[in-house]
Amino acid sequence: MNIGIDRISFYTSHYYVDLKTLAEARQVDADKYYLGIGQEKMGIPAPDEDVVTLAASAAYPLMQDGELDDVELLLFATESGIDQSKAAGIYVHGLLEMSPRCRTVELKQACYGATMGIQMAIGFVARNPKKKALVIASDVARYELGSPGEATQGCGSVAILISADPRLLAIDPESGYYTEDVMDFWRPNYRSEALVDGKYSTMVYIHALIESWKQYAEESGRSLTDFDRFCYHIPFTKMAEKAHKKLCRKFKVQMEAEQMQQLLEESLRYSRITGNCYSGSMYVGLTSLLDTAAEDLSGKRVGFYSYGSGCVGEFFSGVVQPGYREVLYADQHAKMLAERTELTYQQYEDIYHYGVPTDGGEYVFPQYKTGPFRFSGISQHKREYESLVD
Ligand code: CAA
Repeated sequence: MNIGIDRISFYTSHYYVDLKTLAEARQVDADKYYLGIGQEKMGIPAPDEDVVTLAASAAYPLMQDGELDDVELLLFATESGIDQSKAAGIYVHGLLEMSPRCRTVELKQACYGATMGIQMAIGFVARNPKKKALVIASDVARYELGSPGEATQGCGSVAILISADPRLLAIDPESGYYTEDVMDFWRPNYRSEALVDGKYSTMVYIHALIESWKQYAEESGRSLTDFDRFCYHIPFTKMAEKAHKKLCRKFKVQMEAEQMQQLLEESLRYSRITGNCYSGSMYVGLTSLLDTAAEDLSGKRVGFYSYGSGCVGEFFSGVVQPGYREVLYADQHAKMLAERTELTYQQYEDIYHYGVPTDGGEYVFPQYKTGPFRFSGISQHKREYESLVD
């Protein structure tokens, strides 16, 4: 029995900053961002968006299509959680009016959480082939103003339905994984911005890739030439390209620039204009690949490298299913991305400094442009959400 991704839906905030605006403010050449790190825009959540509204908005099309009716497991991966105790997924479960007959938890391991969620969901479906699992990856990537990481900020959420006989991607059983205790990127509980040892983090990312690949290759007997496309974790698009080049060099696979472009480019299109979505970022890459590839990918094998700082890496693979184009949300994604609003530098800073009140008072938040749900206020330390749809 094949198990894998049956539907995938992606959502990002309505607002973005063009990196040429940031470059001007930071007095650096815009090409450092456009070409050097391979990013053009960063998604900025409005004050009335958070990981819950991003997630509920990503999963909303699935609800509309009746895809959540058989879901009995909801796994919410995030590293920008809003509560130390309650799972953010429970708010989403409520907003989407899902059946109470459902297990819901939050998972955390930096940007790797959703991949663990998918592996757990596959185990769940293997035991319960008629049931489905919903894995949601939702994050806001936030670094200090003026820091090297700032240009890689972004936000977004991906809702991934896992089932037997999936219509999009059958996930192969083989996998290679790697854990090592390192401090390349972290966010202590008392901070709202991540701390990062930037250059070191790029080295650990590649080291974990090589180690994960070794185990995957041993288990599967496949080589790097057995893949038609690759989806990498994308903190910034240049990272994915560099990592793939290094992997090929290490295992002595010749890779011309044109081939490299063909293997990765479609998966990088969305991330280039949303920025890092942390736990969702590799799955934003998969959505981008499936939505935008001109070639019919049916039957093609895709290699995935998921990386979460701290660190855990995993390499796995899957095969795109015939007819996959009929169940994509490509048009909605294109419309959402095309209709976003650009922020000025000052608007970006104002939103950046907007903090959720922590004094336990009553607050109603101004309404910005969001998806179908918004973070409408806070009362006695309880977050309040509003549905903007019937
Ligand atoms: N035109 C073209 N290219 C230019 C340029 C110009 N005018 N100016 C500079 N560049 C190039 C540089 O040569 C460099 O290219 P190479 O890497 O090929 O040498 C590139 O632009 C970046 O320049 P710097 O190395 O000087 O950039 P930086 O040090 O200011 O920032 C960074 C880079 C440290 C990665 C920073 O973006 C950062 O801290 N990012 C956050 C951490 C991160 O994303 N790490 C990735 C691995 S960890 C992970 O994946 C988990 C996660 O999601 C966070």
